Amino acid sequence: MNSDSADIGLIGLAVMGQNLALNIADHGYSIAVYNRSSEKTAEFMTRCRQKEPSGERVLGFTDLKEFTQAIRRPRKIILLVKAGAPTDRTIESLLPHLDPGDIIVDGGNAHWLDTIRRDKELTAKGFRFIGSGVSGGETGARFGPSLMPGGSPSAWAELEPIWRAIAAKVDPQSGVPLEGAAPGKPVEGGVPCTAYIGPNGAGHYVKMVHNGIEYIDMQLICEAYWLMKHLLGLDAGAIGEIFREWNGGELSSYLIEITGDILGQKDPAGPGFLVDQVLDAAGQKGTGMWTAASALELGAPANSIAEAVFARALSALKEERVEASRLLKGPDLQPASNSAEIIDAVRRALYCSKICAYAQGFQLLSEAQKAYEWTLDFGTIAQLWRGGCIIRARFLQKITDAYTRNPGLKNLMLDPYFKDVLHEGQSRWRQTVTIAIQNGMPVPAFSSALAYFDGYRSARLPANLLQAQRDYFGAHTYERTDQPRGKFFHLDWPTPDRPQIEV
Ligand code: 6PG
Repeated sequence: MNSDSADIGLIGLAVMGQNLALNIADHGYSIAVYNRSSEKTAEFMTRCRQKEPSGERVLGFTDLKEFTQAIRRPRKIILLVKAGAPTDRTIESLLPHLDPGDIIVDGGNAHWLDTIRRDKELTAKGFRFIGSGVSGGETGARFGPSLMPGGSPSAWAELEPIWRAIAAKVDPQSGVPLEGAAPGKPVEGGVPCTAYIGPNGAGHYVKMVHNGIEYIDMQLICEAYWLMKHLLGLDAGAIGEIFREWNGGELSSYLIEITGDILGQKDPAGPGFLVDQVLDAAGQKGTGMWTAASALELGAPANSIAEAVFARALSALKEERVEASRLLKGPDLQPASNSAEIIDAVRRALYCSKICAYAQGFQLLSEAQKAYEWTLDFGTIAQLWRGGCIIRARFLQKITDAYTRNPGLKNLMLDPYFKDVLHEGQSRWRQTVTIAIQNGMPVPAFSSALAYFDGYRSARLPANLLQAQRDYFGAHTYERTDQPRGKFFHLDWPTPDRPQIEV
């Protein structure tokens, strides 16, 4: 093997790594690949030789030193290994074979604080580091993911042509993803769904918030499905048809599209629809929880994102819920008589709640950029979520437009387009939540989003009483409505031995 013959290297040949390597090769780059277990490398190389049109541009290695020697200097090496300790171990094993100035690109779902730490450590040793969010699952990695890179600006300048080439593309006018890529035949033209996000952990933070939004987006869809199933007595196939129809309108998105497909899928193992046989206990790998935890830490009101995480946690208590369902009684279900009205109400509840979910995500990003000293461009972030990623949606063009119109927009709900949608949709949204509550059906995503909307639009909240309570038992002080902000007061509140103060 010639030294310096590969444009880039990649470590980690699980399915995401294999697909990203082939995507890179499809775009004319030669790529060296390495995996800790050499069987995986051998397997992948067989796939490359036998089935992949761009396979001859993939060079497989079973020795880490030889792998690094094959990559052109300064080297660019992508890691697609498990987040956490395996990433640190891989970096450690790689460093003795690298030269100063070489670039490591972590494409895993890393915690942003790990990325900040790694960036610091590697920079101190003379290397360059990029932490890049990669979204879009297996298909995205193969034919065009959304890529959210953060880290060394000079490293980004060198990685950028490859990242732009392999990213998903959207139509420049409509923002609609350009489809039709096939092995060896990438889509031509379009705007790539990638851009530099910011220093150190900014890219991984933005990817994490993407996942937090993914959680709430999915939970909202599940609640819509559940309400239609029970209130209207529809089977999965019929609800799937409704989602297909919605996918032609403002709700058009990857998650709505796959929901239509999933609901229409018959059970291969018996009669009926598969979804009815899937156990209702959701798993999670942690990125939604990180988003909610970060929101709590930064004091950002991302209540619906947190609710989506808790909804998964509650679902996972399957056996306990089955037991409780025999012991705790709720109201009897009242089937709805007007299906068209309910379907319309649920659709509007879904769209309005989705706006709130994204508003919360961007509000969290806005707090994070202050805490971590980043300057995030929300328009660019919305733009690169238009294609490739799991939350890709027609709606993201509206968000892009909103931030282009007003880069300093305080909250997405205040943009004229979104404000109108919320104003028009809110009565149906409230109706949906009311019917759900009356029927004892849990809708944590719909209702928490509504609480967020109502809370945000309230000039006054009962926090006056809360602050007074804090002052009462802990002398935590309060501000007064008739005094400037920042001026604090305390009262020696009356107690049994200290009667009410006479004024
Ligand atoms: C993506 C996905 C991907 C994965 C998440 C969600 O953007 O491609 O977000 O990263 O699906 O890890 O995983 P959990 O639902 O298991 O937390």
